[in-house]
Amino acid sequence: CGIVGYVGNSSRRADAGHSALDVVLEGLRRLEYRGYDSAGVAVVADGTIAARKKSGKLTNLLAELESDPLPTSLTGIGHTRWATHGGPTDQNAHPHLADGGRLAMIHNGIIENFAELKQELLEKGVTFTSETDTEVAAALLGDIFRNQLNGESSNLTKAMQLACQRLEGAFTLLAVHADQPDVVVAARRNSPLVVGLGEGENFLGSDVSGFIDHTRRAVELGQDQIVTITADSVEITDFFGAPAQGKEYHVDWDPASAEKGGFSSFMEKEIHDQPDAVAQTLLGRSDLNGQLTLSELRIDPELLKKVDKIIVLACGTAAYAGLVAKYAIENWCRIPTEVELAHEFRYRDPIVDAKTLVVSISQSGETMDTLMAVRYAREQGAKTISICNTNGSTIPRESDAVLYTHAGPEIAVASTKAFLAQITAAYLLGLYLAQLRGNIFSGQIKDVLADLGKVPAKIQEILDGAGPLRELARSMKDEKSVLFLGRHVGFPVALEGALKLKEIAYIHAEGFAAGELKHGPIALIDEGQPVFVVVPSPRGRDSLHAKVVSNIQEIRARGARTLVIAEEGDETVRAYAEHVFYVPQTPTLLMPLLTTVPLQIFAAELAKAKGYDVDQPRNLAKSVTVE
Ligand code: G6P
Repeated sequence: CGIVGYVGNSSRRADAGHSALDVVLEGLRRLEYRGYDSAGVAVVADGTIAARKKSGKLTNLLAELESDPLPTSLTGIGHTRWATHGGPTDQNAHPHLADGGRLAMIHNGIIENFAELKQELLEKGVTFTSETDTEVAAALLGDIFRNQLNGESSNLTKAMQLACQRLEGAFTLLAVHADQPDVVVAARRNSPLVVGLGEGENFLGSDVSGFIDHTRRAVELGQDQIVTITADSVEITDFFGAPAQGKEYHVDWDPASAEKGGFSSFMEKEIHDQPDAVAQTLLGRSDLNGQLTLSELRIDPELLKKVDKIIVLACGTAAYAGLVAKYAIENWCRIPTEVELAHEFRYRDPIVDAKTLVVSISQSGETMDTLMAVRYAREQGAKTISICNTNGSTIPRESDAVLYTHAGPEIAVASTKAFLAQITAAYLLGLYLAQLRGNIFSGQIKDVLADLGKVPAKIQEILDGAGPLRELARSMKDEKSVLFLGRHVGFPVALEGALKLKEIAYIHAEGFAAGELKHGPIALIDEGQPVFVVVPSPRGRDSLHAKVVSNIQEIRARGARTLVIAEEGDETVRAYAEHVFYVPQTPTLLMPLLTTVPLQIFAAELAKAKGYDVDQPRNLAKSVTVE
């Protein structure tokens, strides 16, 4: 879910010419990628709380506000929801009210002991109007504020501390109360929240995009902390009231980079950002002699030399970047490398010790499944490195070291540029480990870096020549199923190609290892079945190319439409392909940085032809902060 909070003072907002509601709605617009099942806002005005909420995307809420406006106010909160407890209805949308409508709360996460708390509150005569765990948290806070503060009334902060002591699970909570009209109180446990510092105004957001239009000064909060903002103050405590310190940092994002910049969707824009995402991620990380200089990786090099196993942990697209990393790291470093979906990892009693290096990959740095896996690995004594795109987010903060990807803000829910940046960062990490451990000659590292340096221009070539691919995508908008085959590093690319199509075009799609085809999936091939095949370079080793060409023949013989991604100059495939899309030549291990791009374009164009919202596909959220 996306969360925003704001408190301003009258002179400040009069200058800027808008109210708390404008600031909150602007923040929600930027945070909508975190969930869009419903949206809602509450403001404190004239000694009361006024709230509006609506199922569906933010535009529904805007229409509601148009027909039923809210009073002008200096204090407000807003929420855009990715449903967990209770379906995406108006009723279940946030904010939830309590204390006779004088308190409003929004929430991200899951309150695990909500059933028990609800029972307790029901027995006290509290009534509920939704199925959400949030309403229970709101009622608990309301009850404490009203009935338990023994003379310390009007202290929402104190009430929040007491409430949090009773809550189990993961949550970010924001609350406003009509009795304290110029305060927003927030709490966080295992769920994202940042503070934005203004002049005569302060902000809260799930991430900095919630207030990027207003300030670049942000404060990171720790776990189990409560923050109280007014127009002129920010106070942080733990759940027991002990004062705590946040860490201030400067946000170097350009708000313009979080705009569509003339493209029809964020996803299209982000696909086109990819040359830059790769270039930025490479920037400043090697010297002229081809030496990797990952000075930010603050782990004792001696420890890294002793690593005898690497486990890469991630979810979704990031996990496919991990699969690519495995091929590269094992090849360059000769360290056994496993890749595991983060949510599977800690439930199988994995073998992890002080010589294990755990590399997590996450665009958002907030994916709860990945965070929990990293924590578990640390408890078992592993060293942890996070590859992450979001400065100051939780996973890098809880890891021993971080290697940031510099893809810039990724807004579309389906990941594109972050994926290529993750792969790039993983290559750098692999080369760095190989350099430390003396696995490969420095000349070879220099060559790989030189090849990586040429990748951005090659991606640009693919983008510029994508016309025929887009045409094909539009012609295939009524397909029911598309298969993707790849081998070696082409296998994760096939998986990613299929995932993109599922995510945004809602077409059944599967990625297979081309060699596995004959062991089962070939039974799916029927007359006219479209199959993308990612063909390895004919210059590569071990006759891999020839094997994949045979795979193409096998499916063609059974009626498949073969759509081939191959390397420029590979004429052999033409005879077996209905369409061939060429990508520029590059060494095999680096190929995913190129071969993924046509598959992203294909999915985006096809989804657009179907009339779908490619940036906000149904049922998904960009940053899934529940397990
Ligand atoms: C969600 C998104 C995916 C993303 C995955 C991992 O499921 O819908 O697009 O790949 O989370 O996200 P992360 O932020 O950890 O890379």
